[in-house]
Amino acid sequence: MKLRSIEEDVWILAIESSCDETAAAVVKNGREVLSNVISSQIALHTLYGGVVPEIASRKHIEKINQVIEAALYEAGRTLEEMTAVAVTYGPGLVGALLVGVAEAKAIAYAAKKPLVGVHHIEGHVSANFIEHPELEPPFLCLIVSGGHTHLVIVKDYGVFTIIGRTMDDAAGEAFDKVARAVGLGYPGGPKVDKAAREGNPHAVEFPRAKVGGSAYDFSFSGMKSAVLNYLNQAQMKGETVHVPDLCASFQNAVVDVLVSHTMAAARDYGCTRVAIAGGVASNTALRAGMQAACEAEGLALYYPSPVFCTDNAAMIGAAAYYEYINGARAGWDLNAVPNLKLGER
Ligand code: KG4
Ligand code: ZN
Repeated sequence: MKLRSIEEDVWILAIESSCDETAAAVVKNGREVLSNVISSQIALHTLYGGVVPEIASRKHIEKINQVIEAALYEAGRTLEEMTAVAVTYGPGLVGALLVGVAEAKAIAYAAKKPLVGVHHIEGHVSANFIEHPELEPPFLCLIVSGGHTHLVIVKDYGVFTIIGRTMDDAAGEAFDKVARAVGLGYPGGPKVDKAAREGNPHAVEFPRAKVGGSAYDFSFSGMKSAVLNYLNQAQMKGETVHVPDLCASFQNAVVDVLVSHTMAAARDYGCTRVAIAGGVASNTALRAGMQAACEAEGLALYYPSPVFCTDNAAMIGAAAYYEYINGARAGWDLNAVPNLKLGER
């Protein structure tokens, strides 16, 4: 297939359905978001205290056509005007991914457009390009989502070197489990964040786990267990737990580890630019902690607006643009890959 010249505008219709948000966006040249439509299933899954995969797939299939239609309408563009169709093909829930992948294939085939498969995590990293036109690789990126916690050097667009990862729970998962334990429910991260604003971050000193592997690896299961133990002991002694203090203390421990590992990596690898990505990147304490640390070390910090931190299709359109101009094309046999690894090149 002939590549368009880079001077020509590239319009991407992007689709994201890897978890519990059905999303579509129109993105021009990787950085200009013309529309970003998200149909959230949060209210539905709240009833069950977490994402129920089969319900997620069923909701995606119900919503996906309207979401795409709305994305094109809001952008004031037609499908015919798109250069390519992009879709998240992994990692994520298999049934949820399949809805987006099948939809994207059908649309691209019918409209005779090239198809681009996007790695969900590459999408999260690329969310930083949307509002920071000056940001270009290389930079250091801390990726903190519900399923992933990675510290990577973004060497080029779509090219990563993983230097640290979680050995157990992802940061978002730890937030969600602690929220459930203290009765805040789903989705946990934003609720802990909100409760923590009224609490004392030094009320309880939770352990900052050290792990054996790389100096930049993470472990959150110890911290989560410490919170559960604290709750059990309080219950046994008949003491009431001050939820905001507990949330603030837990959050402080998580943020402390995320910031200190990121700063150590920035120092060791000589990075002058640091970005954060993923749902947990919208956490107010993490943003403030990173800001203070980066200012103290004279580093530039980048983070997306909250709407681009949690799952959305604009970030998929941003990542797809760089894949597209580098010649990446998916075949009609594109499949969902639920455990897709972050490619290292
Ligand atoms: O990136 P994301 O939307 O989905 C995945 O790819 O996993 O991340 C969702 C995760 C959830 O665990 C959610 O609790 C967490 O991000 N999260 C937060 C906040 N907002 C979302 N965690 C802490 N503070 C927040 N404000
Ligand atoms: Zn995500």
